[in-house]
Amino acid sequence: MSELEHTDESAKATDSAAQISDLLVEEREFAPGAAFSAAATVNSEELYQQAHSDWEGYWAEQARGLDWFEPWHTVLKWDPPHSQWYLGGKLNLSHNCLDRHLSGWRRNKAAIIWEGEPGIEGGVAEQRTLTYQQLHREVCKFANVLKKLGVGKGDRVAIYLPMIPEAAVVMLACARIGAVHSVVFGGFSPESLRDRINDSQCKLLITADGGWRRGNIVRLKAESDKALEGGACPSIEHVVVVKRSAGEPFPCHIQEGRDHWYHRLMEDASADCPAEKLDSEDLLFILYTSGTTGKPKGIVHSTGGYSVVTYNTCKYVFDLKEDDIFWCTADIGWVTGHSYVVYGPLQMGATVLMYEGAPDYPQRDRFWDIIERYRVSVFYTAPTAIRAFMKWGEEHPRAHDMSSLRLLGSVGEPINPEAWIWYHENIGASRCPIVDTWWQTETGGIMITTLPGLHVSKPGFAGWALPGVSATIVDEKARPVEGSASRAGLLCLTRPWPSMLRTIWGDDERFQETYFSKWQDDQGNPRRDLYFPGDGAKRDSAGRFMILGRVDDVLNVAGHRIGTMEVESALVDHPAVAESAVVGRSHEIKGQAIVAFVTLKGSSPALSARSTHPADIIDELKAHVATKIGAIARPEEIILTADLPKTRSGKIMRRLLRDIAEGRTLGDTTTLADPAVVENLRQMYEGQE
Ligand code: WT7
Repeated sequence: MSELEHTDESAKATDSAAQISDLLVEEREFAPGAAFSAAATVNSEELYQQAHSDWEGYWAEQARGLDWFEPWHTVLKWDPPHSQWYLGGKLNLSHNCLDRHLSGWRRNKAAIIWEGEPGIEGGVAEQRTLTYQQLHREVCKFANVLKKLGVGKGDRVAIYLPMIPEAAVVMLACARIGAVHSVVFGGFSPESLRDRINDSQCKLLITADGGWRRGNIVRLKAESDKALEGGACPSIEHVVVVKRSAGEPFPCHIQEGRDHWYHRLMEDASADCPAEKLDSEDLLFILYTSGTTGKPKGIVHSTGGYSVVTYNTCKYVFDLKEDDIFWCTADIGWVTGHSYVVYGPLQMGATVLMYEGAPDYPQRDRFWDIIERYRVSVFYTAPTAIRAFMKWGEEHPRAHDMSSLRLLGSVGEPINPEAWIWYHENIGASRCPIVDTWWQTETGGIMITTLPGLHVSKPGFAGWALPGVSATIVDEKARPVEGSASRAGLLCLTRPWPSMLRTIWGDDERFQETYFSKWQDDQGNPRRDLYFPGDGAKRDSAGRFMILGRVDDVLNVAGHRIGTMEVESALVDHPAVAESAVVGRSHEIKGQAIVAFVTLKGSSPALSARSTHPADIIDELKAHVATKIGAIARPEEIILTADLPKTRSGKIMRRLLRDIAEGRTLGDTTTLADPAVVENLRQMYEGQE
């Protein structure tokens, strides 16, 4: 990496630090109430001490909370950057989520309470409840369906579904037979689905006739057909289609031989399917996430370690108790949905609430209405949602009885203190602790947070590394910035953890390069033992981490990770575009918004063929990105420019573009090949506002 990029990263971390600190109008601390602490699963430092004195022993102890068909002989084999956990151990995550709960009264407990989006306008929302017994039966049947369709251990299965109970059923069925699922968020475009299917060579695609979102039907089967069109996904042998519609299926095409209705297949399936005895290191799932290149990375997770961390974080961080109703608002298309809608809480034997639709349908109080009607007790959502709720106004939560809530969580991006306090006062009635949980697709489960019955929390600060997790802040040379409470640096995990990604699907070199090459030893060799998550951070005097956000070319838009390069590739894919550079700009609700600087081809036939009015081409380019990647990647603003600021070696100077997009005073322009470019750009940008 060039020196310039180093400077760029540090500058980014420092900028964010300054921005967030500005918001810390007053530093307030919040201690959990005495009753909450007394009843909490963790209310002493003991776990931290245990993990500190015997780190491997701690992780062994945590794993004992699950059922193992055969015990492991070695807790950890660490061959940096590759780790293996619980070697020799045999288990099955679907067994730990289901079968384990069937021997006692819990078999009759609600595992999933689901509410569909529609119906509520008429006063009766569409609802379904599956007890552990019922969910187990569905999962076993679908596991047999998978086998019948020729899916076996290690085969990849793509899942492109709305938030319906079947999403959990098919994930658990894959886990039951050792098939590797790859869930693709339903908001991604057919092209994104196709790329993900092809990258991991999925044999089967599971989708639905549609799903409801803000009163509209999202036609996932039609989108799937576009992805598969013309034999574009040769690995796909079958497509299973869940009928989501309550009556006649939403109109969609069923291709004889290839496509099968889920409900038909389930009719003949046997409910007898013993859970496969899987090796702890057998693959569990692949989940694609954005990186710093144009191509998303298939993050690979394995069975044992992932099970342990999702289980123990539900126990300690969400403090889940037998009578809790846990609602994590994430979609199963993201890792949060994997770990905290499905696998974590079900391993705990908890009751999960699952909601299909939008928070503002039919009105802006839908979430609070759901909390009131189901008596939700633990609620986990994203800062971007909280900021939208703030904007919508207090009257919406105030109209509902939310006294059932006892604990709140936040995830996905830094939560600004103002939003934290609003959440605390208006949703938590100034009574519920808030856990601000830092983690990533790659970490599988929560890494940095507070434990709600133990810690005093401070808005803006996520908290400390969980027991068994080692995090620190270092500079570009891996020198610790510990002790200097206010200095920003790079977040670094210094030890492996059970639920860490094992590799990037099909590209172990990229895995090593991306996460384990940030720092070098004295000989200049990469430090393969230090994990670089891509975030900047700083600490307060009590050692709490404040996460400052990404320092690499990854944006976090409304809690969703989007690579600037991905958006740039989508833009240059348009025939009129010569070059583009994408940066993030802070956004009141979404955290970050996408701003694209685009140079058009001088005499582009594509341009002259249509109106040359800039507004038309801008709209067209925005739509093009949405079609290529998905609506979440649509740029908020596109700035047409004759030139992009470049260094003499031809590298686009993003830092300057960020300054322009934020309307900040310009950073150092001395390395610029043509300083006039930036000035022109800035004038254009300000002219557009
Ligand atoms: C990135 C990971 C982990 C589930 C959802 C996102 C940011 C996540 C926090 C937090 C500040 C956070 C980081 C991280 N992030 N949680 N509590 N405070 N930033 O998963 O898509 O893999 O994104 O989200 O930048 O690297 P993801």
